[in-house]
Amino acid sequence: MRHLSIKVRNLEESQTLLLTQKARLLQEAGVDVVSLTAGEPDFPTPAHIKEAALRAIEADFTHYTANQGTAELIGAVVDKFSSDNDLHFSPGQILVSAGAKQSIFNALSAILNPGDEVVIPAPYWVSYPAIVRLADGIPVIASFPAASGFRPDIRLLRRSIGPKTRVLILNTPCNPTGVVLSRSEVEEIAAIVKETNLTVISDEIYEKMVFDGRKHVSIGSFKGIRDQVVTVNGVSKAYAMTGWRIGYMGGPEEIIRAAAKVQGQVTNNANSIAQKATVAALRGPQGPIDAMREEFQLRRDYILRRLSAWGGEGIRNPQGAMFFFLSVEHFFGMRARGNLIRNASDLAEHLIEHHHVALVPGDAFGAPGHIRLSFAASMADLEKGIDRLLRGLQEFQ
Ligand SMILES: Cc1ncc(COP(=O)(O)O)c(C=O)c1O
Repeated sequence: MRHLSIKVRNLEESQTLLLTQKARLLQEAGVDVVSLTAGEPDFPTPAHIKEAALRAIEADFTHYTANQGTAELIGAVVDKFSSDNDLHFSPGQILVSAGAKQSIFNALSAILNPGDEVVIPAPYWVSYPAIVRLADGIPVIASFPAASGFRPDIRLLRRSIGPKTRVLILNTPCNPTGVVLSRSEVEEIAAIVKETNLTVISDEIYEKMVFDGRKHVSIGSFKGIRDQVVTVNGVSKAYAMTGWRIGYMGGPEEIIRAAAKVQGQVTNNANSIAQKATVAALRGPQGPIDAMREEFQLRRDYILRRLSAWGGEGIRNPQGAMFFFLSVEHFFGMRARGNLIRNASDLAEHLIEHHHVALVPGDAFGAPGHIRLSFAASMADLEKGIDRLLRGLQEFQ
C-alpha cells in the first residue's frame, strides 16, 4: 500500500456525500429512489447570472485574476456586507475563494497553530471538524441540547472556551437544525467573544433562507468585537450557484491577508467567469431569492403538516436553511423486516434499502439520535419521499 499521511487517514469522508452517492448509484441501476439528502437548491441559476457568465466568456475574461478576487467583485461584496449585514469593510478586508468551504479552510489555516482549539457547537455542518483538523487544529464540540431545540447553551459555550481556544465557529441559519439565532442570542454570544480573545468564524451561507419574516443577524455587526469576526458567505445557496464555486469572507485585514497567502499558494484566484457571474448575482435583481425562499417555506410547511399528522416525536420546525432534523432515538432497539435498528445509520440504511428514500444520519452532524431530511427537492419528490418515510417508520410501530 502507498504511504498516506496520518492526517488524511484520519479524515472521515462526508456522510452526506456518501448517502447522496448511494442514492445516485441506486438510481443509475434503475431503482426509483427519492433522495432527500442534498444541501443545494434544486432551482436553476437565475438567467441574468448565466448571461453575465456567457458575456464573460465571449469577452475572453478567461485568465487569472487578482488572487483575492477582481476589484469589481470585491466592490460588490463590500456593498453587500454593508447593506445586508451592517458590516463595513475596506476592499483589503475581503477575500473571494472557490466556495465558502474554501473560505473557512483558508481562514482556519491562517489563524491556527498545531494544538490550537476550535469550539464548534453541535449539531454542526459535517465539514467543520474535518477542516479544523486539516488546518492542524483540535475541534472541541459544544453540544447544544436537543431538549431546548438545539438553541445556544451560553453556559456550556463559556465552559468550552479554554486557554487554547483560538476560534469559535458559528453557523446561523444552521445546517442541519434550521435554528436561526435571534438578536438577543447573538448578543449573548458576542458578549462572550468580547470577554475572550478568540476569533469567530461566522458562517452565514444560509442567510437568505429564513422563514416567517425572521431577520438574520450577523455577529460581526456588534460593536466592540468587529475586529474579532470573520464573516463567511457565498452564492451557492442564495442564488442556486453551488457548482460555480464562489464564496467570500470579510474580516480583520491581518487574517484576510494571511488567508490570501494560503490561497495564493494552493489555488490562486477563484474562477474568473464565476466571479463575473457573482457580480451579476450581488448587484442584479434580488427577486429570484425571494421566490426561492417562498417556495422553500411552502415545502417546509407541507412537510411539517405531514409529519405532524404522523404524530412522531422530536419534530422541530426549521426557522431557516432547508432541513428538518428529526429525533429518531425512539426507533433504536426496534426491528423491521429482520433489521435491528441500533442507530441512525442503521435507520438510514433500512430506509434507503427497503423504502427507497434517502436521508442523512445525524452522526455526521454530531447528533447521533437524529436524521436530516432536506427539502431541497421538488414538491412531487417530497410527497413521494414523505409517503415512503412514514410507511417505513410505521413498520416499527
Ligand atoms: C453550513 C455550510 N457552510 C458552508 C457550506 C459550503 O458552501 P460552498 O458551496 O460555498 O462551499 C455549506 C454547504 O453545504 C454549508 O451547509
